[in-house]
Amino acid sequence: MSGENEKAYFTEADSAEVVMGSIDRTGEERLLHIMDVVIRHLHAAVKEIEPTQEEWFQAIQFLTKTGQMSDEWRQEFILLSDVLGVSMLVDAINNRKPGGATETTVLGPFHVENAPVLENGADTCMDGKGEPLVVHGKVRSVEGAPIEGARLDVWQCNDDGFYDVQQKGIQPDFNLRGIFHSQKDGGYWLRAVKPRPYPIPDDGPVGMLLKKLGRHPNRPAHLHYIVGADGYEEITTHIFVPDDIYIDSDAVFGVKESLLADFIKVDDPVRAEKFNVANPFWEVEFDFVLAPKSG
Ligand code: BEZ
Ligand code: FE
Repeated sequence: MSGENEKAYFTEADSAEVVMGSIDRTGEERLLHIMDVVIRHLHAAVKEIEPTQEEWFQAIQFLTKTGQMSDEWRQEFILLSDVLGVSMLVDAINNRKPGGATETTVLGPFHVENAPVLENGADTCMDGKGEPLVVHGKVRSVEGAPIEGARLDVWQCNDDGFYDVQQKGIQPDFNLRGIFHSQKDGGYWLRAVKPRPYPIPDDGPVGMLLKKLGRHPNRPAHLHYIVGADGYEEITTHIFVPDDIYIDSDAVFGVKESLLADFIKVDDPVRAEKFNVANPFWEVEFDFVLAPKSG
């Protein structure tokens, strides 16, 4: 390859360097770094694959369909990132927390802003389907101090395995969603239904890719949480049903051992009355541990 400011024509051998050499180096430093890395790895991948023109066009069509499938309620690119393990990798890189803090996992495409703020003990289930579940626990610091006023944004699928946003007009808006705040002792509690395993949306290009790769689209049953408090790092996480059939083969690689919760089947009318749920019911206790804000 010729010297830095000299004109260089494209060759197979120097392809990445020629493209990188076309970039004005006075631009945004972070973007320049990202594009250098992307161009280098992309060209290396193409050189290793040696695609035919047809294969290259198939890839273009796949990405085109991925974009066309996306709208306000469907984010096919997030799904693609999820099934390729990229979402979990970005999560891991951005959550190298001190030991003891609750581990994080994927956000997924079904979080909505401005879910209703509910009192502790409120029932998030608005469609009357599923087995009643009581979730409770504490929010505390890594030193063990209770955190009062922590915000817990909670969401899950319904008993048919769909989120409200996937079934607009079928499920009530904000079904199985709510924002709770921890009490003086750090405690929170809510009523919901036992979550079910469900397939991620697989009627688009990502689902087609999974099929071709011999992979199933299912996620093990889980509840989603975003937990934050003043002075602490916010965490995006789940709690999982540990004996779920997909617990070892989550389509998006989101399972972590520390997030397996104990879902206990309770048959006790007195305890049911205490929580104001029908007997029998499921009970799960899970504490969230937050790390202090860094920087
Ligand atoms: C979810 O858990 O809501 C989810 C995560 C990744 C892809 C699809 C759904
Ligand atoms: Fe989910």
